[in-house]
Amino acid sequence: MNETLKVLESRRSCRKFKPDMVKKEELDAIIKAGTYAATGMGKQSPIIIAVTNKELRDALSEENRKIGGWSEGFDPFYGAPVVLIRFLSL
Ligand SMILES: Cc1cc2nc3c(=O)[nH]c(=O)nc-3n(C[C@H](O)[C@H](O)[C@H](O)COP(=O)(O)O)c2cc1C
Repeated sequence: MNETLKVLESRRSCRKFKPDMVKKEELDAIIKAGTYAATGMGKQSPIIIAVTNKELRDALSEENRKIGGWSEGFDPFYGAPVVLIRFLSL
């Protein structure tokens, strides 16, 4: 089977992450892959910020939880130690 189709068919969303920090080289590879994602209206050069600071990561989780209307104590990042924020240049 075509390799791209194989990757698409074996990909799954994850709702439980280990707290261990992701290795820098792995994080860099994920960020690089993200820069190739499609952008609305063909606006290129997406900026991706990796939040590895636990305090900031937890504050973002809490704001996200409130916006999403989830119950107190719920972590919408499912315990992931790193959050990637993708900005698009306007
Ligand atoms: C635009 C978009 C937003 C999503 N938002 C959330 C979310 O806020 N919380 C969550 O747990 N999953 C979210 N998901 C994941 C979907 O629920 C998940 O992809 C779906 O259950 C299918 O499962 P799969 O990715 O393993 O095939 C989102 C998916 C997309 C495409």
